[in-house]
Amino acid sequence: MAEPRAERPDADDRWTSEPEQLHVLRDRDSGAVCVVAVHDTRLGPAFGGIRRWRYDDLDEAVGDVTALARAMTWKCALAGLPAGGGKAVILDREGLDRRAAYALVGRAVAQLGGRFFTGPDVNTTDDDLRVVREHTEFVAVGGDEGPGDLAAATAEGVFLAAGALAARLDLPFDGLRVVVQGLGAVGMGLCERLARAGAQLLVHDVLDARVQQAVQRLGARALQADELLSTPCDVFAPCALGGVLTERSAAELPARGVCGAANNVFASPVAMRALHDRGVLAVPDVIANAGALIQGATWHLTGRRTTDDDLRAIARTADEVLGRSLAERRPPNEIALEVALERLSRSTRGA
Ligand code: NAI
Repeated sequence: MAEPRAERPDADDRWTSEPEQLHVLRDRDSGAVCVVAVHDTRLGPAFGGIRRWRYDDLDEAVGDVTALARAMTWKCALAGLPAGGGKAVILDREGLDRRAAYALVGRAVAQLGGRFFTGPDVNTTDDDLRVVREHTEFVAVGGDEGPGDLAAATAEGVFLAAGALAARLDLPFDGLRVVVQGLGAVGMGLCERLARAGAQLLVHDVLDARVQQAVQRLGARALQADELLSTPCDVFAPCALGGVLTERSAAELPARGVCGAANNVFASPVAMRALHDRGVLAVPDVIANAGALIQGATWHLTGRRTTDDDLRAIARTADEVLGRSLAERRPPNEIALEVALERLSRSTRGA
């Protein structure tokens, strides 16, 4: 599945802070190159996965790893975690010695001695992570005895955020019309929760078997691809890809709110503003999809499984941000970044 390469906040100086540490490493034998960014550890150790990508050059890789690590800092602060943002990228190329590249990242993470904790991201598999783990304990590998079902935590978080959104829109869950795009691990989990709460589901996935499952098990109505963005609903829940809301679709989406798991739902800041200007309230994805991060980070920081209360931080933050957005008439994404910055600066003042 296509994945957005970087989560870039709006072009505003306050939101483009540079990382605390940036390490460029090269493996002499294989020529593999990786870049590790530790963006901000004021709240706690940095968390972020390893992305392997074909960058044009080192500058592009540095820009991407910086933007991704910075987005993780905002995400951790908004999730209420004692953690910050980091990221690692491997410069992919024809003939890359993949094992050597992941070993290089493993050695870099080991040298950081717990300041950076890593795991999966685009193009990184469990086998790759096992190579990293040969060099450092500060890595999460799928299938291990660990924090539990991360996608289920994400689905629960999106459901909790949708609850905060419905409350702000003064709509009860019972009878809430929700269009869900994508019925994968998160989308289907979200549908199950919404169905239990009495919502009416309208669903689409490129895989028809998944649509049929939702129709038969959860009483959902199937939508065709071209109906997704034109079917009137209370909440649109994008759980497939980023960039779904373009300037054009945001100007027309017949929904009262947006809340889903997909990263970077807006194709551009202009699309975000177009939706806001029409009075459609969108929970920032950086808040709604933090369930897996909360579950994973809690496990690795404390060794305990998350409780429902840990995940309810998502609903509290969503409610705070949506409330301020309505009061100040500004897009929720802008408010979310301000809330993240406020939480970071409070930590510096020791409050
Ligand atoms: P997944 O790969 O299990 O499911 C994605 C589903 O979307 C698949 O059923 C796929 O067939 C469908 N799909 C792809 N293109 C589509 C299209 N154009 N129209 C309709 N359906 C389409 O992924 P998962 O884990 O459920 O994640 C969903 C989204 O949430 C992704 O964007 C992911 O990056 C994001 N996310 C997931 C987290 C997790 O814990 N799994 C955490 C944070 C974000």
